[in-house]
Amino acid sequence: MPATPFSCSFLVLQPRFNHYINPIFRSLTYQLSSSPFQSNVRLHCALSQAAEAESPTGGRSGALSPGPTVTGEVQKIDVNPPKGTRDFPPEDMRLRNWLFNNFKEVSRLYGFEEIDFPVLESEALFTRKAGEEIKDQLYCFEDRGNRRVALRPELTPSLARLVIQKGKSISLPLKWFTVGQCWRYERMTRGRRREHYQWNMDIIGVPGVMAEAELISSIVTLFKRIGITESDVGFKVSSRKVLQEVLKCYSIPDNMFGKVCVIIDKIEKIPVDEIKKELNAVGLSQEAIEELLLVLSVKSLTELEERLGGSGEAIADLKQLFSLAEKFGYSKWLQFDASVVRGLAYYTGIVFEGFDREGKLRAICGGGRYDHLFSTFGADDIPACGFGFGDAVIVELLREKGLLPELSLQVDNIVCALDEELQGYAAMAANILREKGQSVDLVLESKPLKWVFKRAARTNAERLVLVGNSEWQRGVVGVKVLSTGEQYEVKLDDLK
Ligand code: HAM
Repeated sequence: MPATPFSCSFLVLQPRFNHYINPIFRSLTYQLSSSPFQSNVRLHCALSQAAEAESPTGGRSGALSPGPTVTGEVQKIDVNPPKGTRDFPPEDMRLRNWLFNNFKEVSRLYGFEEIDFPVLESEALFTRKAGEEIKDQLYCFEDRGNRRVALRPELTPSLARLVIQKGKSISLPLKWFTVGQCWRYERMTRGRRREHYQWNMDIIGVPGVMAEAELISSIVTLFKRIGITESDVGFKVSSRKVLQEVLKCYSIPDNMFGKVCVIIDKIEKIPVDEIKKELNAVGLSQEAIEELLLVLSVKSLTELEERLGGSGEAIADLKQLFSLAEKFGYSKWLQFDASVVRGLAYYTGIVFEGFDREGKLRAICGGGRYDHLFSTFGADDIPACGFGFGDAVIVELLREKGLLPELSLQVDNIVCALDEELQGYAAMAANILREKGQSVDLVLESKPLKWVFKRAARTNAERLVLVGNSEWQRGVVGVKVLSTGEQYEVKLDDLK
């Protein structure tokens, strides 16, 4: 209803804009012909005709005028980010924030505290000697103080460093989570990049399988929240203690264990003969290798029990995990698969990975127990387990399933002065709204109303707040609810 007086003020002061707003204004004047602002409407019609005569083109293009000519040599930069890395323009940032908020909300639901560490760490933190792929993928260099440093390829060593640094000042168990960027100079495949973000949840100080069960439960909760079901995704579960028991039978020393696991993890990536050669090279006999490969092909717990004799820790842990999964209500998501070993040397017990049931993508997430990591850094061991969940594969999966959320920019208000000289007042109106928690897209330049409406549509603004001269004198602003078209005046004090 009160759009009329604003339009009049606008036209009086900005006649050159009339060309743009005239159609909008006419429709408003038609609707308002019986309003108390009728006299203003008549005033507008006269003014608009005058304005049209004065400025046949009217308005601003909004295009930038060409800058000064540049002399001298200018080197054009490559505008793409380095290979394997990503920019996050607003639409991608919205998706990233949506995903991270889900990570954080699930962590909160499970009572975990958030932590963070630097992206740059000392190289020694990551240079384990077990032949892991991750070591060859390290982004590392010498800094200006001649220190060997590396961009972290994962978050677990930093977490261990922090726990050791805190020492006795922390009370166990710890339930910590973090979302952070990791760097790996990796061969690029679908969902695998040179830079990715990982959501990690770790439990430090709990030796029993209840901890792993809780971690898997949290990932299931995340999947459900984002629309992924047990028919899309499953968890392959095993225990490294299975391998340990086999190696013990063949008197393979404990210090070979990490190396053997790292080799076996490559089983789906390189030919079996290569695997056999590598195992042989680290000292395993032909017989031990054949037994290992046989055990790794086992697909059920009952069969494993038959092969291993049924009394070891591996079977006991796995049985307990499957039993707990029933109680937690996610047993349909779990399957035993002895071939799951994971590629990091430090895992010692239960290991698991999330996979897409169509088999199109690489692991969605992965984790396990790492009870001896702390002693590799010279500290006392503390039982620990956790997982890493990347941001890239899950987005591929959501895209595959048509489950990517529609996320658009959304502001509560667009606030616009009807005249350049009123911009300070528009800022005051915006402040009032912002102080009350309302988001405001303040129009920062003098723009035609047509532009403002277009902008409001792009930002999905709920309301248009117009600051006009005569209204401001009366202590009010005009409001248009953009979804319904409802218009009214509101006192500045009542603006909310
Ligand atoms: P990871 O299996 O190496 O484990 O990585 C965990 C997850 O990070 C993967 O399942 C995948 O989602 C994501 N990821 C890894 N590398 C890439 C890459 N190049 N591009 C995109 N995504 C990637 C770890 O890092 C362990 N530190 C996890 C952990 C935490 N274990 C215990 N606590």
